[in-house]
Amino acid sequence: MDKFVVHQSRLSGQVKISGSKNTALPVMAATLLTDQICVISNVPDLKDIKTMIGILEGLGKKIKFSKNILTIKSKKNKNFIAPYKLVRTMRASFCCLGPLLAKLKKAKVALPGGCIIGPRPVDLHIKGLRNLGANIIIENGYCQAKTKKLKGAHIYLGGAFGSSVLATANVLMAAALAEGESIIEHAACEPEIECLALFLKKMGAKIEGEGTPILKVIGVKKLSGCEFKIIADRIEAGTFIAASLATKSPIIIKGANPSHLTSVIEVAKKIGASIKIGKDSTIFVKPAKRLKPVNITTLPYPGFPTDLQAQFMACLCLAKGISLITEKIYPDRFMHVAELNRMGASIQRNGPYAIIEGKEKLYGAEIMASDLRASAALVIASLAAKGKSQILRVYHIDRGYEKIRGKFGKLGAKIKREKQ
Ligand code: UD1
Repeated sequence: MDKFVVHQSRLSGQVKISGSKNTALPVMAATLLTDQICVISNVPDLKDIKTMIGILEGLGKKIKFSKNILTIKSKKNKNFIAPYKLVRTMRASFCCLGPLLAKLKKAKVALPGGCIIGPRPVDLHIKGLRNLGANIIIENGYCQAKTKKLKGAHIYLGGAFGSSVLATANVLMAAALAEGESIIEHAACEPEIECLALFLKKMGAKIEGEGTPILKVIGVKKLSGCEFKIIADRIEAGTFIAASLATKSPIIIKGANPSHLTSVIEVAKKIGASIKIGKDSTIFVKPAKRLKPVNITTLPYPGFPTDLQAQFMACLCLAKGISLITEKIYPDRFMHVAELNRMGASIQRNGPYAIIEGKEKLYGAEIMASDLRASAALVIASLAAKGKSQILRVYHIDRGYEKIRGKFGKLGAKIKREKQ
């Protein structure tokens, strides 16, 4: 296992944002809907992408991944089982269920189980696919689905915490090959789902309403291969905005899509940053000398993303005054609180709320990364903290941030990777 050794740093210069992991994963699953070749560019080179490659290879795909381009072809033998040993390492593998079922009329995908950010049920995925005519049983830790024919249906996909990103992906992919018309209400509006719908449309699917809570799908008999480019990773861009604020360093962000970051830019401005959008969507971030406290509530898109909650909490530890974070998507997603407190922060957690009393300084410490986004928050806090920090278990960060050390290094950050 590796650790990061981080020294307090000022950042400057430009960073280029990679393709979106959370878009690439369901798009890769969607290639199960066709036997033809798909060429997908701007795919980040990450551990989660390699896990999905392993799953698709097990399901009969032949894959080449080079220079951020994935070429996905079909082999003859078609397996329909996604085993637990791969699925448990990455929940997004569950979105193979919908496309496998639609293409092969049967699928057996391991149930992913909970994770460190809390219980993560899949009831909405199952409900949506049952509405389309799937017969689903849960047996021995697997979700086993079969159908004679999927049929279009009117499906309400809202749950206790709002819409679900990957349930929408699963149901949308299955509906694309179902017979007749489907309406998916309370669909996720995240850019990742909009982009998946655009990919499916390029394959020949008939979809209207992508990016809105109501999707209309007219099923087609067959989908074809295509070429497609993955959108920029809005969470990575937001992470660099948070790093700029916490370290009080102006930086320039290239290659992001600012229209996917409206709520994040709004919060960053309230914290006291000047944010300007230049030519080619370049984002210029110039933080204030002392950060201001804010209240943040995480919500489904276009609300503030839960995947940036930890990183912005790291900033608010240094604001002048008291901030409140309300976590409405994953009420238990607060593993980073204890680690930030070890660095001198003053955060009190109460259920889905975190009350953050800003301090003038944080201090380097030995801290433990617990999940992907929490790791990014600890990197940000360590760059801002006085002295040296050691972040243990950084393998979490390899799952979702392409060349994170190199990118921060180019901005002038002092981060070394060492054996733990
Ligand atoms: C995706 C993202 C993840 C992000 C999350 C919320 C990927 C690979 N992952 O995860 O990074 O944090 O969206 O933006 O894209 N829920 C149910 N029943 C279900 C499914 C979900 O109750 O069947 C609940 C969840 O527990 C959570 C909320 O709905 O409270 C939203 O979760 P969801 O959008 O499904 O998250 P994922 O798609 O798994």
